[in-house]
Amino acid sequence: MKTRARIGNAIGRNIGFGVWLRAVALMAFAMPAHAGALTDVIAQCAACHGPDGIARSADAPNLAGQHELYLYNQLRAFADGKRPHKEMRFMSRQLSDAEMREIAHYYEQLPR
Ligand code: HEC
Repeated sequence: MKTRARIGNAIGRNIGFGVWLRAVALMAFAMPAHAGALTDVIAQCAACHGPDGIARSADAPNLAGQHELYLYNQLRAFADGKRPHKEMRFMSRQLSDAEMREIAHYYEQLPR
């Protein structure tokens, strides 16, 4: 019984890693070549908004295929405190204006 549980765990972990690898590969493919640092930022966003911009939990919105200007405006509003939200305020305040624009552009390109 114990052995079977351990094998099950090992398989579970490997599947998780495979999904993660594919997500990273997808991101590397979708990112413009110059945006190495931005990949690190977007990896943080992926925890809630999904590696492909499709949110995995019901309380986070999808970002993929959303209009660039809309996404940028929301990031600005979170950072300025005009749109109140604890996590997004924290995340957005780490971004420069240029990064917000690039991130908005990135997510607009992803298929919904
Ligand atoms: C801890 C989870 C979490 C993380 C990490 C996170 N977000 Fe969010 N984000 C949310 C939630 C939840 C909302 C919905 C906020 C609300 O209810 O007003 C949101 C909303 C947004 C919106 C507005 C979308 C819309 O349709 O109005 C944008 C844009 C956004 N996030 C971008 C980002 C970016 C870019 C990052 C990475 C720098 C990021 N988020 C990281 C949870 C997160």
